[in-house]
Amino acid sequence: MGLKRYFFPTVLASCLSITGLVANVGDGAALYEGTTSFQNGAPACVVCHHVENSRVIDGGYLAKDLTKIVSSYGGVDAGARETLKAMLLKSDDMPSPVMVKAYNGKELTESEVNDLIDFLVNADSKDVTSSNSSMGFVISGIIGAAIIFVLLNFLGKNRKQESVNQKLYDRQLNSTWRD
Ligand code: HEC
Repeated sequence: MGLKRYFFPTVLASCLSITGLVANVGDGAALYEGTTSFQNGAPACVVCHHVENSRVIDGGYLAKDLTKIVSSYGGVDAGARETLKAMLLKSDDMPSPVMVKAYNGKELTESEVNDLIDFLVNADSKDVTSSNSSMGFVISGIIGAAIIFVLLNFLGKNRKQESVNQKLYDRQLNSTWRD
């Protein structure tokens, strides 16, 4: 009995800790989005920038959309990683006075910068448009609703389909006193 009782909580706890580990180790998407905090308390990029990617929420539009930033610096082969790294490692070298100010004294670490760049390279390689991703949401909603309707219908197939009094009523219609 005891074993059975602890089985579900144990499985749940294991799943949660595995997801936690996966999300924390080297995950640039989580850093970009702020799900994982930067070591020195820097603000998440998502506050000001948008990246079109299914792994992260919609971002701010104060600054440039970074979805295609790697291509705009010529791609990985042309040294886009190094260009980005040089911009992000020291707050003084950041590409805008707004960023210099926001990150001053809250420098990103080298591994954080590498993870962020990995994420940006990955996001740039995906061909997602915003209309696509929201259509996907609508379509999965419709499919989900259809499944629920079918399931409910199936679950209710033994339900009473006529009124409780129907049998009494039928019997009365057939009863002999009428004639
Ligand atoms: C407080 C707002 C803010 C935050 C937070 C912020 N940025 Fe920026 N960023 C800007 C602004 C403003 C610019 C310059 C104007 C523009 O490109 O729209 C800029 C420019 C950039 C550029 C240069 C774009 C180009 O076309 O050359 C890159 C790359 C960049 N940011 C990356 C990041 C990354 C990565 C983070 C997270 C570590 C981040 N930014 C966080 C406001 C911000």
